[in-house]
Amino acid sequence: MVKNAVYYYSKTGHTKKLADVIADELDVEAHSINEDVNDDIDTLFLGSSIYGNSIDPRLVDFFSKLGGRVNRIVNFSTSGMGRSSYDEIKALAESYGIKMYPDEFHTLGEFAGINADHPNEDDLKNARIFASNFK
Ligand SMILES: Cc1cc2nc3c(=O)[nH]c(=O)nc-3n(C[C@H](O)[C@H](O)[C@H](O)COP(=O)(O)O)c2cc1C
Repeated sequence: MVKNAVYYYSKTGHTKKLADVIADELDVEAHSINEDVNDDIDTLFLGSSIYGNSIDPRLVDFFSKLGGRVNRIVNFSTSGMGRSSYDEIKALAESYGIKMYPDEFHTLGEFAGINADHPNEDDLKNARIFASNFK
């Protein structure tokens, strides 16, 4: 079983920036959710975002291929208006019997000129600090 793994869905690259620093801090690779999950994973850091007030439906497909290999999920996300993806990811995790870590990392992502530059260097530094608690 691997201790930590990082997977993400990112339409415009903001959540991928978080995935990359979290993965770097944990000394693992960041994987798109389009990739297969072949390892048993203790803590899966899962990155996602909000589009049209919802997570992307590809996250639903991702859960269907986890096949009981994940102990718990740590959520991280970006969004334009500040709501995280936590509740949707928690509902999916629980429907597959996967534990949801109660804390998460969420920050703003630029959207149509609002929140320009987010996630910025400070956001990425804070994501790294969050991840460092799981080393
Ligand atoms: C098609 C589209 C729809 C969006 N809808 C919402 C929304 O309903 N609520 C919100 O808070 N942000 C919305 N956003 C902004 C994204 O949540 C924000 O840009 C986020 O950082 C995108 O993450 P990503 O770059 O990893 O895909 C939307 C962005 C796009 C591209």
